[in-house]
Amino acid sequence: MSSPAGLLSGPTPMDRADRLGDAIGLAPGRLWIKRDDLTPLAGGGNKVRKLDHLCAAALAAGADVLVTGGGAQSNHVRLTAAAGRRLGLDVVAVFAGEAPAAASGNIVIDALLDITMIWTGKTRLAEVEAEIAAAGERLAASGRRPYVIPVGGADQVGSQGYVVAAAELELQVPGFDLVVVPAGSGGTHAGLAAGLGDHDRVLGVNVGAFEDVAVRIARLTDQTAAFAGRPNPSGSVRVDERYTAAGYGAELPDARTAMRLAARTEGLILDPVYTGKALAALMAGIAERSIAVDTRIIFVHCGGTYGLLSDRYSNWIADWTSS
Ligand SMILES: Cc1ncc(COP(=O)(O)O)c(C=O)c1O
Repeated sequence: MSSPAGLLSGPTPMDRADRLGDAIGLAPGRLWIKRDDLTPLAGGGNKVRKLDHLCAAALAAGADVLVTGGGAQSNHVRLTAAAGRRLGLDVVAVFAGEAPAAASGNIVIDALLDITMIWTGKTRLAEVEAEIAAAGERLAASGRRPYVIPVGGADQVGSQGYVVAAAELELQVPGFDLVVVPAGSGGTHAGLAAGLGDHDRVLGVNVGAFEDVAVRIARLTDQTAAFAGRPNPSGSVRVDERYTAAGYGAELPDARTAMRLAARTEGLILDPVYTGKALAALMAGIAERSIAVDTRIIFVHCGGTYGLLSDRYSNWIADWTSS
């Protein structure tokens, strides 16, 4: 397997999940978990695949500092921080909101990696994008060589990581029908659709980071396919919007129920912001029969475990009085 910046060491595991599959109404051999939470960097997660391509581009451009951003508990920032340190690059992170009074979850790791943190007070991630660009311009004006990475690493370079991953999925579960993935910035979804050449085989679950994520995915898929020298995929973008209005990061009872089920049937630890919502939507889709019970499904575990240990979620997740 090629790894442009050397951040990956080979394919991630693909686990058959019959106990969870049975609990949500699927027949044996129908549910597989792609363990991208086990990518080999600082707690792992889907962003390592994107950063492998983004960091290679940064190094090729002669950059000396990576500039990116996200929400306070951004897994993408944590992994950009670790990738930068591993490759000898400084990292500047631009966050939504105000600096918290106490560090928890991903912020503990960001601090350990000793990155520069800028707290913008902005509430919307779309506003953070503009602040990231501005930080890059300030660094360039001061004589640094910044490489600017958008929120979630969602551009046609980062999404190449999931074009590569799509081929890995085909090898590990030949002929699967559907891959289910949380859609935050949409870059993971876009890369998979571009790599598979078929929108209909990818179901994204909007986690509420961008209300217009389906539009972003459509655009980014075509840019990603063009960058990879492939045709635009057939079909049309599929995004489940049932949790969009609840908002990014909301404590969603359905997500907690899904997390408990994954933990108690498979020992599989999901997170409340991304993967818990994605499993909840998959469960609802099967229950409503919009997803047939004989569908061969790959659920992509994108990581996020540090976020669940943050102050915001830990008591809510652990609340044994509400199971
Ligand atoms: C754990 C986890 N899952 C899913 C996603 C969503 O991926 P994307 O931004 O590519 O849509 C993220 C993004 O930050 C994430 O950290």
